[in-house]
Amino acid sequence: MPSGSTPPIGSTPLHGAANGTGDLDERAIRWMRQRMASSGVGVIGDKARLDADLAGSITDAGLGLDDAWQMFSEVIAPQNIGLDSERFLAFIPLSPSVAGIWMDAICGTANFSAESWLEGAGAVAAENQVIELLVRTAGLPPGAAGCFMSGGSIGNLSALAVGRDQAAGKRVVVVADTAHASIDNALHILGLQSLVVPTGPDCRLTGHAIRAAVGHRDDIAIVVAAGGSTNAGVIDDLAGCAEVAADLGAWFHVDGAYGLTAMLLPEMRERYAGIERADSFIVDPHKWMFAPAGSCALVYRQPWLARQTHTQHGPYIDVLRTDDHAYNPCDLGYQLTRRASGLPVWFAMALHGLDAHRDAIRHGLVLAQRMAAALDACAATELIMQPELGVVLFRRTGWHRDEWARWAATLLRDQVAFVAPTTYRGEPVGRLVFMHPRTPLAIVDELMASLTG
Ligand SMILES: Cc1ncc(COP(=O)(O)O)c(C=O)c1O
Repeated sequence: MPSGSTPPIGSTPLHGAANGTGDLDERAIRWMRQRMASSGVGVIGDKARLDADLAGSITDAGLGLDDAWQMFSEVIAPQNIGLDSERFLAFIPLSPSVAGIWMDAICGTANFSAESWLEGAGAVAAENQVIELLVRTAGLPPGAAGCFMSGGSIGNLSALAVGRDQAAGKRVVVVADTAHASIDNALHILGLQSLVVPTGPDCRLTGHAIRAAVGHRDDIAIVVAAGGSTNAGVIDDLAGCAEVAADLGAWFHVDGAYGLTAMLLPEMRERYAGIERADSFIVDPHKWMFAPAGSCALVYRQPWLARQTHTQHGPYIDVLRTDDHAYNPCDLGYQLTRRASGLPVWFAMALHGLDAHRDAIRHGLVLAQRMAAALDACAATELIMQPELGVVLFRRTGWHRDEWARWAATLLRDQVAFVAPTTYRGEPVGRLVFMHPRTPLAIVDELMASLTG
């Protein structure tokens, strides 16, 4: 068909049974199965090469399946780091379960509109089962509820916006010097100021430290604590922080994007004492609850306050609320159209049960303890602190920034692991994060050899 002429109605190759995708379904399923069996450490893509290889790939007539698939499978897919690799030990890894991946693919197919009850009641009801589990585990009172968002940053932003709106004009937010970067970014977007409270050598924010930093100030709107800080994997003194927040009449938010998942383990629950006093908290199932990327559970003690902040109004959208009992996730956070990212979480939990998830979480804890013990026993390395969750921080005698960078590059080159050094109180140090349930125990010896060989 010459470009510019109108095709007969219904003749699109994009949709329907007669679409122009050939055996794409078989190729895709083969690819997905292979990926689920094992994903390598991957590589950091070369910009010049990628740009050159992909230049001109979008044409008027289309490349056709073979060429387009080849570009995906041979150019695009291989030039990434595998965050879901069992050997990805940097930042905060991903380790989606097979059940979660398939249900996520189904969500992409069905496009359940999880922003509203009107459109996506089934999907939202399933997501709410996960939210209820978190509410129960945290010990929040009846009436507490929440919704799923696409990630921890947007979850934190949404919760802090509600805290701000309940603060009667107060504009200062207490944050630890260890808080995740998304908190600072959210405060900037929301026009709030931070009061940064220093943590000690153990990197733990305490109620005592907050009181010392706040003094007699009466302008504190929100206190933010971490249910697992990112850099060191430390759970803040949630009970102490909650106490100060209550005394200050401030909103208490817990950023549990990374670490709050471990409260599902009975033996860990006590460490999160104080979470039951949170006004809001988040947990990212795409981090340690084995969901595919794009999933944050956001919970409020009093969800009706969140509705005051987040409900969007307009002539075409008010129909979402014609039912008094409507339960709309979009009224609770800053996101309208939304993938049902809690549905894969629910499905994997319904299929495998909580115990399988608990065991998978424990694997990361065990590996972190073993790595710590090995580092402690070695004369050339020094453990900075006992890991509380899955993060291990350590020193290597004689290593500075360049040596850490070389170590990371060598591990990547040899496909042993993807690691990213960090700093501890300004000092370049090693950091390893264990969360993937399939990371082999033998990796401890491999890493020790790389540090001492
Ligand atoms: C404690 C904490 N909060 C928030 C975030 C941001 O989450 P996301 O990357 O899902 O936006 C992270 C990410 O690692 C985190 O560790």
